[in-house]
Amino acid sequence: MGKSPLVRKLYHDRLELHRLDSDDAIADFKNEVARGLSATPKRIPPKFFYDERGSELFEQITKTEEYYPTRTETWILDRYNRDIIQASGQHPTLVEFGSGSSAKTRLLLDILAESSEELVYIPIDISPSIVHEHSQKLLEDYANLNIRGLICDYQHALDELSRHTQSPKLFLFLGSTIGNFEPDQASEFLAAVQAAMGAQDHLLLGVDLVKAPEILNRAYNDAGGVTAAFNLNLLARINRELGGRFDLNRFRHRAFFNEVESRIEMHLESLGDQTIEIEALGSEFSFAGGETIHTENSYKYNYLSLERVIREAGLRIRHVWHDPEQWFALNLLAPA
Ligand code: AVJ
Repeated sequence: MGKSPLVRKLYHDRLELHRLDSDDAIADFKNEVARGLSATPKRIPPKFFYDERGSELFEQITKTEEYYPTRTETWILDRYNRDIIQASGQHPTLVEFGSGSSAKTRLLLDILAESSEELVYIPIDISPSIVHEHSQKLLEDYANLNIRGLICDYQHALDELSRHTQSPKLFLFLGSTIGNFEPDQASEFLAAVQAAMGAQDHLLLGVDLVKAPEILNRAYNDAGGVTAAFNLNLLARINRELGGRFDLNRFRHRAFFNEVESRIEMHLESLGDQTIEIEALGSEFSFAGGETIHTENSYKYNYLSLERVIREAGLRIRHVWHDPEQWFALNLLAPA
């Protein structure tokens, strides 16, 4: 095995965090911005939204009236948490991709804490600040909880997970974050999770479903402008961390449902022709008026397209829970 790019730190006797070396994280950001802004059409991967400010803004998005996914998934978890834990077995280890504030995870920890003596929670998130903050709170609220977090992207996490193999495990991938992947990549990612699963392990996958375009478009264009601020923060982050010279008033947020691809697309549109210098890259990037940087896809599934992605990953559906309107599905998966 090669050397681990992750460094380990102890903060509390029940908290251990492994963090991707910050030099590696900065190099990754630099490379992806350089590559993405040189491509046609321009693009930057959505994982870079989540610096400290971006993670805060995402938390705010989840509380807007227009953004239904978090509220809907929380309703399903709150209503069916007992059934979910019962169907997946008494897993004392939870591994969560994109744990964020862990607010939804608490609904499962509440049930697990009733019957397990020792619980192990492995949150995986790219945002150090949010993992630190919420880990402290979780330890205060759950006396029998041990946290071994991974602060890195999913690819590094999968490499690292082999070192954390207490079974049986319940993997969580909530919030429809799977929607950020192209469907083929979604299958590949799920296949990599499947490869890390034992025969008794389960994966709880939260997926946003196709619905009326008006509802989808509203959810990504909230009237308070929180989603716009979240999208534009990517340019602010380039300014902060890479010495970029973006004028945030000369770009605008655009989000729309692409019915053919069944995805919400988010873009940052250049208001007029402009050339932007990015100091840390030692280069300039030209934008034509109306040209966009494609910053996110958020795929919306139906049962058929979802079933295909799951099957191709070598997984099978054990149970599906959804809200009464079938806006969102929580799928309990097991190795096929
Ligand atoms: C965290 C990827 C699930 O796609 O809905 C929210 C991110 N972007 N508003 C989503 C997001 C704009 C969110 N995910």
